[in-house]
Amino acid sequence: MNRTVLRLACIAASLALVACEDIRPPRSAYKHDRVEVEREPPTAGATGGVPQDGQPAAKTAGFVPPDHDDIPEGPFGDMVRRGRDIFVDTGTHAPEFVGNGLSCGNCHIDAGLLPDSAPLWGAWGRYPAYRSKNQHVNNFQERLQGCFRYSMDGTPPEQGDEVLVALETYAFWMAQGVPVGAAMEGAGYAKDFEPPEPPDYARGEQVYAENCALCHGGNGEGQQVAGKYVFPPLWGGDSFNWGAGMHQLDNAAGFIKANMPLGRGNTLSDQQAWDVAMYMNAHERPQDPRYTGDLAETRAKFHDSPHSLYGLEVDGRLLGQGAQ
Ligand code: HEC
Ligand code: HEC
Repeated sequence: MNRTVLRLACIAASLALVACEDIRPPRSAYKHDRVEVEREPPTAGATGGVPQDGQPAAKTAGFVPPDHDDIPEGPFGDMVRRGRDIFVDTGTHAPEFVGNGLSCGNCHIDAGLLPDSAPLWGAWGRYPAYRSKNQHVNNFQERLQGCFRYSMDGTPPEQGDEVLVALETYAFWMAQGVPVGAAMEGAGYAKDFEPPEPPDYARGEQVYAENCALCHGGNGEGQQVAGKYVFPPLWGGDSFNWGAGMHQLDNAAGFIKANMPLGRGNTLSDQQAWDVAMYMNAHERPQDPRYTGDLAETRAKFHDSPHSLYGLEVDGRLLGQGAQ
């Protein structure tokens, strides 16, 4: 059974309040045979041929990440497993750093293995990297700190904290065989596509009602069983905050197009993916931790992009007020 089907079965079982202990990390969806990795030489450009955050310089095809059954015994393997546990159930294994109801694996599906879901094997070899978001070169741990601060709406662990070491070890283990600096096919989210028409809130609302509400709830609130989310919230106080990458329309459209509805990725049209991304991101969520006290100023400083609705009025509501 593939992992998504297994997960859906487990979710169905959980919703029926039947215990479902064995939501195992993925294995069957990927063959274990190693595939030769091809790499074109990066084209020299403004960045000197070095891939920048989210901007592949060369595509690399056919990488197959290792099987979880092959995590070695011993202290190194223990750290890999600890990283995996934190990744798939962050609120349980690193609660002091999490401020919402999400886990890393909610957006990096199949425990960070799935292509086009910003897989960890696609990220590891591309750091340190310059990030326009904070305008300096970030090492891998700093990149992870950003996820805690924004996507997890929490307080990041300090560099060197065991939580970051564990996550880094898990990513390193998963990326074995990936050439350093290579931009792998399937890395990041496949976000470089435009909708035929500008995204539209009303159309998005309809896409949402027909394709998403069943799992994520009529008001984006997700669904919990025994105090734990089985379907993660898309907006509101328990979701990612206004500073998170997922609040940008291009990231959201790319993630949704490839991965949602769960188990039926790539069934929405480009237009539907953008429309529903806009609908989702035209709702309140926790405030951007960089908020200066002034919405317009915060937009000008951190959200000056057509992909951000922060500080704009949509459907009669001024966005960026923050949700508790
Ligand atoms: C709400 C969804 C969401 C959650 C939750 C989330 N992330 Fe991310 N993550 C993203 C987005 C969006 C990006 C940006 C991807 C891009 O720019 O292509 C990203 C990027 C990353 C990257 C860099 C990927 C790359 O290819 O450069 C890493 C590593 C990462 N996240 C790890 C984590 C970890 C670890 C956690 C949990 C502590 C986490 N993420 C939680 C959405 C999320
Ligand atoms: C069959 C149930 C199901 C349907 C239908 C579904 N999702 Fe999801 N969605 C999930 C689950 C479960 C996850 C978390 C994935 C994981 O942890 O493996 C998720 C994760 C997400 C995330 C990232 C996590 C977060 O909370 O921000 C977004 C965004 C998202 N879905 C949007 C959508 C949109 C938009 C639609 C409709 C086009 C949709 N989903 C339809 C089950 C579903």
